[in-house]
Amino acid sequence: MAKRKLTKNDELSMKEETLNISYKRTCSCSEKHINCLTGKEWVKSQVAVQEFYYTKDDIRDKNIHPATFPIALPTRFIEMFTHKGELVLDPFVGTGTTLLAARNLGRNAIGFDLKKEYTDFARKRLNQTTLIDKTKQIVVNDDALKVKEYIRSETVSLCVTSPPYATMLNKPRLNKSMRADLRKNEHYLKVQQYSNDPRDLGTMDVPKYAEAMGRIYKEVFPLIKKKGHCIINVNDLWWENRRILTHVYLIAALEKVGFELRNILIWDKRNLVNHVGIFGYPSNYITLGSTFEYLLDFWKP
Ligand SMILES: C[S@@+](CC[C@H](N)C(=O)[O-])C[C@H]1O[C@@H](n2cnc3c(N)ncnc32)[C@H](O)[C@@H]1O
Repeated sequence: MAKRKLTKNDELSMKEETLNISYKRTCSCSEKHINCLTGKEWVKSQVAVQEFYYTKDDIRDKNIHPATFPIALPTRFIEMFTHKGELVLDPFVGTGTTLLAARNLGRNAIGFDLKKEYTDFARKRLNQTTLIDKTKQIVVNDDALKVKEYIRSETVSLCVTSPPYATMLNKPRLNKSMRADLRKNEHYLKVQQYSNDPRDLGTMDVPKYAEAMGRIYKEVFPLIKKKGHCIINVNDLWWENRRILTHVYLIAALEKVGFELRNILIWDKRNLVNHVGIFGYPSNYITLGSTFEYLLDFWKP
């Protein structure tokens, strides 16, 4: 028997069955406001160079996950681009940092990760904290490419994430920028890739990676509300003494599927870099990649 084509309503009820999560404002801010911030609080976020600090609630154990960002990072963007009660998406949620930030701020959130070990950890992490209101934070163990199967169109106010940086973690860790006496810590020469799954973006070279990111963000696009923002934290790579402009590839891939680049912020990581060794002297000038990362801010025009 030929399959009946799904109508818009069928599609909606299917998705409602799949993930029942709220996305509407619960605050009483004016319709025109893009967030619940006061003018004084807004000023902090308009600075294009941002510093974030890890706290005791952050996960910094590389045996749990090799590349977490601090809770303060998604917090800054959730405050900037959502209201209380709205919905946040993280397609590459790892240990659940974005979901924890959303929970602390009274926002609903959904996060995806390919690796079960990480999604199990993220759920446990969330279960250890108290829910202060009726919001939900849901962890899904699946490929980010499937986001559309779980979330209804135009319900997401903000997508904020740190995806793998292509094959950056797929090489033995040499800690070259560290002082020689500190280089040989327990992670020296370890490959810290997330998984060997061919769908894992961390296994792909940059052109293939950008293509895969484009495919994923094509699925994310219809889920975002009009003028909703999409933040991607990424860094460039060095490969055989050449800089590979991962952030440029990503901008092209996202613009191709309809997003528009609004801002580039720099995550100033100098507060996180200790005991730096001399690097490249005296013949090869390369800035220390570990001192900053990009925060690309797109919106759905
Ligand atoms: C940089 S980490 C995110 C870390 C997270 N921000 C945190 O604080 O824990 C990137 C994550 O993307 C996941 N990943 C890679 N490819 C994926 C895919 N196709 N779909 C979903 N998750 C994927 C990896 O397992 C990894 O946990």
